Amino acid sequence: MTEKKPFYITTPIYYPSAKLHIGHAYCTTIADSIARFHRLIGEDVFFLTGSDEHGQKIQQKAEEAGVTPIEYVDKIVAGFQNLWKRLNISNDDFIRTTQKRHERVVQEIFNRIYAKGDIYKGSYKGLYCTPCESYWTEHQLDENGCCPDCHRPVQEVSEEAYFFKMSKYADRVLQYIEDHPDFIQPVSRRNEMINFIKQGLDDLCISRTSFDWGIPVPIDPKHVIYVWFDALTNYLTPIGFLDNPEKFQKYWPADLHLVGKEIVRFHTIIWPCILMALDLPLPKKVYGHGWLIVDGDKMSKSKGNVVDPNGLIDEFGADAIRYFLLREINLGQDGNFSRDALIQRINSDLANDLGNLLHRTLNMTIKFQDGVLLAPEGESEVDKSLKVDAKETVDFFKKNMQDMQLSATIKKVWAFISRANKYIDETTPWALAKDPAKKQELANVMYNLAESLRVISVLISPFMPVTAGRIWKQLNLPQAFKDVQIEDIESWGGVPAGLKVGEPEQLFPRIEVEKEEAEKP
Ligand code: ME8
Ligand code: MG
Repeated sequence: MTEKKPFYITTPIYYPSAKLHIGHAYCTTIADSIARFHRLIGEDVFFLTGSDEHGQKIQQKAEEAGVTPIEYVDKIVAGFQNLWKRLNISNDDFIRTTQKRHERVVQEIFNRIYAKGDIYKGSYKGLYCTPCESYWTEHQLDENGCCPDCHRPVQEVSEEAYFFKMSKYADRVLQYIEDHPDFIQPVSRRNEMINFIKQGLDDLCISRTSFDWGIPVPIDPKHVIYVWFDALTNYLTPIGFLDNPEKFQKYWPADLHLVGKEIVRFHTIIWPCILMALDLPLPKKVYGHGWLIVDGDKMSKSKGNVVDPNGLIDEFGADAIRYFLLREINLGQDGNFSRDALIQRINSDLANDLGNLLHRTLNMTIKFQDGVLLAPEGESEVDKSLKVDAKETVDFFKKNMQDMQLSATIKKVWAFISRANKYIDETTPWALAKDPAKKQELANVMYNLAESLRVISVLISPFMPVTAGRIWKQLNLPQAFKDVQIEDIESWGGVPAGLKVGEPEQLFPRIEVEKEEAEKP
């Protein structure tokens, strides 16, 4: 047996400072679908997500709440983990930066880089944005002299601190970005980063003394490590950086860091500098996705438009939410979330297109053939064209999922679903069923429909894992769904002849929009 190709994919680790909203669910859902795709094509996937738990802001929040920082984060992080479970996120590990295993990694990294002479003690005077945990220089501030990211006021702070000699690596990072066109995606973000580095890199302040909720600097414990140095290194911890060289060798460098557009800079400049100082190879790709806005507006507490993913899951189920996020939004761009658009997608794409195809196929098989799928014999022109379309859809899926074209892939799969529905209208099984001479023709049609659904079930599995499994089960296919690989749908005819289909069950109930309207306050 050949070694499986490793594939290491990460999401950012989220701040447990506020409740997770639909924007976080968006990023994690994208990563999950990509991870599931890579498992489907037979790779050895390691999918990491987690929480970024240190820093002044968390300490302040805990104080306000009258609890210790760890009590504060424990509770919120339990909520993250629950949400990922409900959304069927298939992460292989969950890193918390407060875990001992991570503390050891961060301290070891500090020691190594210090021993090399790339960390020195100095004094930091800077403009600090507490909510973003970022230092800014004067010229980076917005037109009101506030944080360029969140537009809140910054504070001037001055303190003794340790610095990482990032300036030393600026040329090498620039060279790397220029030599590796695939490293930063989309391309627009790559150009932004190139321009940023060309302005010159300052050394990076990596410790603070003004608060203590952090990992102590090993050589000087009155300092705690400043967040980005603690946060970025999370990617090394669970893959055995300190304790499992074989595992580390296998998964590093990461294949993909998926991050929001505002933290691309940290991942493509600071992170490469740290890795270069450690003599480690750089990640293969950093992809900066756009933001999810709500009804055309950025989500914020003050606007009261923060969408809670748990409420949506209660109402519509995880798969419908996943489908909407992945179908509706182009990965690199900002995208809009709206409840009306979500309901429309559920009704048209899920209840109608997909739901009807399954429903009609199973019901006609039961009605016309006692639920048994008979061996096909021969093929008509329409049959042939359906099979050609299936093959083309599978090929498109393989190529475009590699390229992270999630929305385009979903659209293509739905075009095939429509095509299969049209096949029913073209072949009119109800008419064939009335004519004993058309028995084989009918058998062929019912077989091809079931086979189309088998293929569709696998093709939607990265996006809607539960629905995919439900279709598989209703078809009553003997193969265990969890073992299915892409090869299983690369050739036509995987449904075994003589198979008796299962009990039909509605996949997605239609949402009554009039009722919705009436219930609005
Ligand atoms: O930045 N739409 O954590 P974070 C899409 N701890 N994505 C969104 C979003 C929205 N409306 N709002 C937030 C941090 N995100 C650091 C990361 S990684 C070593 C450390 C995304 O909780 C955002 O773009 O503030 C980012 O990628 C992620 O949520 C985490 O944000
Ligand atoms: Mg942020």
